[in-house]
Amino acid sequence: MTIRPIFRAGAAILSEVARPLAAADMPSLPQLVADMRASMAAAGGTGLAAPQIGESVRLVIFEVSAARTTAQPDDDPIGMTVLVNPSWQVLDATEDLGWEGCLSLPGLRGEVPRYRRIRYRGHDLNGTLIERTAAGFHARIFQHEVDHLDGILYPQRMRDMRRFGFTEEILATAATIGDR
Ligand code: NI
Repeated sequence: MTIRPIFRAGAAILSEVARPLAAADMPSLPQLVADMRASMAAAGGTGLAAPQIGESVRLVIFEVSAARTTAQPDDDPIGMTVLVNPSWQVLDATEDLGWEGCLSLPGLRGEVPRYRRIRYRGHDLNGTLIERTAAGFHARIFQHEVDHLDGILYPQRMRDMRRFGFTEEILATAATIGDR
């Protein structure tokens, strides 16, 4: 297990479409996932995609703490989840705005539209199929992490770039104007 540096926006690998994992890759994945977990924890994140530590493969990890969940059904706390070759579909195309940060854009956050309700699937490290319906923050973090596999960072999803900036400034502004 190694804490690896996290690539930041501007690095070429973050703009690439990551390749699907094959059966031959499986033996190397526990080590890679251990590195991802250690790197994410060291940086204080709640989700990470393999390209962020320099591996352009379709693998994401994330967790949803109780503090992040919303009142929506299917937005429950989720323990550490590993998804190999994740795929998904939209169940409710309504888009909700929510603040996001990213370990590849340290110190920044932005308000991003995401689909309200989705269904996703992927395999864990044992090859077991994981299939879940997700809404709210759970749906948001999945969409954020999977975007990394397609070379997309959250600012590319934003519609109002006035809602993008440094976390410290945004929190100070929110306190001033009573915004969320
Ligand atoms: Ni990210």
